[in-house]
Amino acid sequence: MANNILTRTANNAWEWFVERAPGFMPAYRKHMSEYYAPKNFNVWYYFGSLAILVLVNQIVTGIFLTMHYKPSAAEAFDSVEYIMRDVEWGWLIRYMHSTGASLLFIVVYLHMFRGLMYGSYQKPRELVWILGMLIYLALMAEAFMGYVLPWGQMSFWGAKVIISLFGAIPVIGNGLTEWIMGDYLPGDATLNRFFALHVIAVPLVLLLLIVLHLGALHEVGSNNPDGVDIKKGPQGNRWDASKPADGIPFHPYYTVKDLVGAGFLLIIGAFIIFFTPAAGGWFLEHDNFTEANSLVTPALIKPVWYYTPYYAMLRVVPDKLGGVLVMFGAIAILFLVPWLDRAKVRSYRYRGLLSKVLLGLFVFSFIWLGKIGAGTGTDPVETIVGRVLTFYYFAFFLTMPLWTKLDKTKPLPERVTTHD
Ligand code: HEM
Repeated sequence: MANNILTRTANNAWEWFVERAPGFMPAYRKHMSEYYAPKNFNVWYYFGSLAILVLVNQIVTGIFLTMHYKPSAAEAFDSVEYIMRDVEWGWLIRYMHSTGASLLFIVVYLHMFRGLMYGSYQKPRELVWILGMLIYLALMAEAFMGYVLPWGQMSFWGAKVIISLFGAIPVIGNGLTEWIMGDYLPGDATLNRFFALHVIAVPLVLLLLIVLHLGALHEVGSNNPDGVDIKKGPQGNRWDASKPADGIPFHPYYTVKDLVGAGFLLIIGAFIIFFTPAAGGWFLEHDNFTEANSLVTPALIKPVWYYTPYYAMLRVVPDKLGGVLVMFGAIAILFLVPWLDRAKVRSYRYRGLLSKVLLGLFVFSFIWLGKIGAGTGTDPVETIVGRVLTFYYFAFFLTMPLWTKLDKTKPLPERVTTHD
């Protein structure tokens, strides 16, 4: 009896809602229960949903950090110490946020590499890639400003070095640097504006970009490890012959599959948070456990690992303006990938050895540049190696129209392949 009343009330409430929000069910169907995703997704397809998961973690833990953090040069460092020592569970919230930042970049780098490997940026998904790149830029700005907030030594000196780079721009450079900092050195004004941008402005932009990223993807449909369209070939859908062959509804099939990936990520994340939250200085740098001091320069100023490949490029170019241009150019060139790649097939599965070797070398050089950028920058041999790797980075993209056309491709399968 009571059960009946409950069911009836729930049904009535649902009907009431759907009548007043007629767009809800069509949107749910379009993006979830009737979004037909290729049935051959592999582990590389976990990283999009994992990026959303870690971003949600950043927002939730960020809200709690904001409740206790003080955005002023006099109080910021102490307020973070207070969070770590006195706020109930404050240490956990902070480590979830700092570990989450690095995990987000790990996940996003793997997500981008998947895009490169399967040619997911090729027609008709150029817009998905461009929006992804804008997300990447916004993420870098978000993480940079977040790193300044605890007002440790590396927050201060990192901010000083990076903001001063704008000084290399002719004519307006010095004025621009001062305008960004709001002072002659990073200080109260810098911290206040970075706080405002970090906690509200950039997260809003990020959320908007992610909605657009997924909207653009769902207009054209997902790519897959074979890089062939699921609409090709005989109609193979088990339930309804009018639906795309080889596609399965995103919900429940991929929501359930993504939960497995989420489980793995949470285990890895928990391990880092509970056993090695600084990750040997890679996730939280040792110098940042000392309060900012404008009179004491740390022995080695370097950014967090996710920026170090670009930082290496900046350092190995002898000229300041040249270094800045190379560094920003390295990011800008990624926007052009959809037009640089002229291969007839999307996925590297069906490309020749040349493409595979060049992509492998690209990953190798990006990681090695990251290692060089995290080093002291004083070893002349390393500087030369850094120049060679930077040259390779640009050559990989600039000559892409040539080698993607030259390389032999294998015949594409009629339909997506699975290994069952
Ligand atoms: C916070 C950052 C990001 C989030 C939350 C995010 C989210 C997603 C999600 C949920 C998907 C669909 C599932 C999947 O294919 O894995 C997706 C697909 C895609 N994303 Fe992202 N993304 C982010 C950053 C990026 C970046 C930086 C790029 C590249 C520049 C990028 C490029 C792509 C591409 C090309 C696809 C389509 C992949 C395919 O269909 O094969 N995304 N993204």
